[in-house]
Amino acid sequence: MSGTTVIFGADGYIGWPLALHLGTTCDEKVVLVDNFITRQLVSSVRSDSLVPIRSMKQRLEVYRRFTGKDILIFEAADARDPDQVDSVIRRYLPSTVVHLAQQRSAPFSMIDQDHALYTQLANTSTNLNIIYSMIRHVPRSHLLKMGSMGEYGTPGVEIKEGEVELNVKGRKSRVMFPRSPGSWYHISKVFDTYNVLFANKIFSLTSTDVMQGVVYGSRTEEIVDDALATRFDFDSIWGTVINKYVIQAVLLNKLLIYGKGRQKRGFLSLYDSINCLSLLVDNPPDSGRYRVVNQLDEVVDTVTLADLVRKIALEFGISVDMEQVPNPRVEAEDHYYEVESRILPSLGFRRRKSMEQVIREIFETVIAHRARAESMKELIYPTVSWRSSARVSQEFHLPSSFMFPFTPRQILDYYAAPEVDSKTKPELRVD
Ligand SMILES: NC(=O)c1ccc[n+]([C@@H]2O[C@H](COP(=O)([O-])OP(=O)(O)OC[C@H]3O[C@@H](n4cnc5c(N)ncnc54)[C@H](O)[C@@H]3O)[C@@H](O)[C@H]2O)c1
Repeated sequence: MSGTTVIFGADGYIGWPLALHLGTTCDEKVVLVDNFITRQLVSSVRSDSLVPIRSMKQRLEVYRRFTGKDILIFEAADARDPDQVDSVIRRYLPSTVVHLAQQRSAPFSMIDQDHALYTQLANTSTNLNIIYSMIRHVPRSHLLKMGSMGEYGTPGVEIKEGEVELNVKGRKSRVMFPRSPGSWYHISKVFDTYNVLFANKIFSLTSTDVMQGVVYGSRTEEIVDDALATRFDFDSIWGTVINKYVIQAVLLNKLLIYGKGRQKRGFLSLYDSINCLSLLVDNPPDSGRYRVVNQLDEVVDTVTLADLVRKIALEFGISVDMEQVPNPRVEAEDHYYEVESRILPSLGFRRRKSMEQVIREIFETVIAHRARAESMKELIYPTVSWRSSARVSQEFHLPSSFMFPFTPRQILDYYAAPEVDSKTKPELRVD
């Protein structure tokens, strides 16, 4: 890595381990930006990270103590505010900007109109603000933008990495592989993709658009102490499927299979997500180029995953049944799914640990925090229906103050605050 890296979304599930990794393995400055809204949004649905997470201030103190290094710098900024983004980019003039600072839950975006609006406004504005600020202050730097494999949907043909040839009545053209997103959240990611592509067209912005699969796991090489843990969401709104299965196995002795359970997705462990992002930071595309990277390790269907979790549960003395539940999502439940992934292997990507190894680690994490999980057990069952047309859901209220960017002052109130307690934490105020 050469030059400063700015990570927007550095307090998150992926952002914090990435910051720790770069802060441990590199010598250049890494600037960590966050507004701590994921902590707030998760608590707005009465949930919390299964693993207690420290404040950013404590995280950085422990990082310094364990590594003896001091290259991670925190900046309080809300990426929805163009001036706050500009202030960070202008002062640090990064050579790489990693953009992870978005609302990342598909079910959250489907709760009601307010949650759909929040998701699309927040995600689009953070992306455009970062693009414009980079063009003004660091037009030759590399934007590493996190998208999702869910942008593609399940098209029934192999998902290519980048462009495909289109042949209409014998005339040929090259176009981006088509997108067919399945939630308001995934649609926001498609919007981002076209905004980054367009910025490349008009400004020659050097950019990598990462189509990431579903991430699972609770550890990385640099999480060497509980105080360095990353968040671990397990409820039906914020959790991802493998993490959720392990919680269901431990607390319910059953796994909830959505519909037929033959939905296939691309997966990668948290170890590999960090490993891939680090490779992409170190290997930007040629200056002025836009590239799409399909970031996944393996494709598995949800019943096969459940079988694997059931088998590993037995090693921990837990026997598990399968329970089919009506699928709350609108999606194909039995379909063809193949994904091309050439760029990361060509940069040297190799899986760090097998899925089985990582699932065993998740069991260890969940069992260690079992008592805490018991108190949030009711959040495991799916509650959000894709077909809800509510203006405002009866069950989950999105505080109106979340619709506006937080000020740096408000964000700093949370910088040193201990873990958010969903039952007692007040709403963020608008100054
Ligand atoms: N976790 C997955 O399985 C997965 C899979 C594919 C893609 N992704 C994408 O990866 C990225 C990171 O995901 P994650 O799982 O770490 O999510 P996360 O919610 O844990 O992390 C996002 C971080 O960004 C911060 N943030 C959000 N809006 C912000 C804003 N306006 N200003 C400043 N900070 C803001 C949040 O507080 C949080 O710390 C997201 O773009 C997500 O869509 C995640």
